[in-house]
Amino acid sequence: MKVAVLVSGGGTNLQALLDAKAAGRLPEAEFVSVISNRKDAYALERAKAAGISAEVLSKRKFASSEEYDIALRDLLLAKGAELVVLAGFLVVLGPAVLQAYRNRILNIHPSLIPSFCGDGAYGLRVHEMALARGVKVTGATVHFVDEGTDTGPILLQKAVAIHEGDTPESLQLRVMQEAEWQLLPKAVDLFTRGKVHFTNGIAWIDEQDS
Ligand code: GRF
Repeated sequence: MKVAVLVSGGGTNLQALLDAKAAGRLPEAEFVSVISNRKDAYALERAKAAGISAEVLSKRKFASSEEYDIALRDLLLAKGAELVVLAGFLVVLGPAVLQAYRNRILNIHPSLIPSFCGDGAYGLRVHEMALARGVKVTGATVHFVDEGTDTGPILLQKAVAIHEGDTPESLQLRVMQEAEWQLLPKAVDLFTRGKVHFTNGIAWIDEQDS
């Protein structure tokens, strides 16, 4: 299955996908394109190093969000993408992309949704919120993207312990190492092997051993 990855930053989650592919853990995923909205995103270098087409689609080149949305949809369709993975993509998707890829867009969020998510909950802010609330367990969630912010069907979640003395930075790193970099390749593997189905808007995994 052809997979496109959308990025804005460092791309460690993209790297986890590329490493999983190189290790033979994503047999049905073919990475056809990495698209960034920022030309200085280091994720672009990671894509090039792996021999994957890397492109910049900057919002500034478009007169409106609507035009950007349509251009992004057209680029994804031109690449033949059948699954779109948001790996730290900081642009809110519009209706053209969402309609073309209903239940085919995965996002990784660094908390256990529905905690610490929604508008304004991204990056270090998510971990600041978890620490300020004093929860003892946080984690990461892979979910499908719909019109809301972090409201789409949940596919995978993994818990991560919070330690006394954690800073937003130390917690962010532990959530990435213990949860995000494992969950995102696993989600892409399950989806590309056709192991995901939806019942009444809820995502389920078909096999017991996954
Ligand atoms: C990660 O924390 C991810 O959860 C969030 O954006 C960040 C991306 O980091 N959606 P990277 O670019 O993959 O290193």
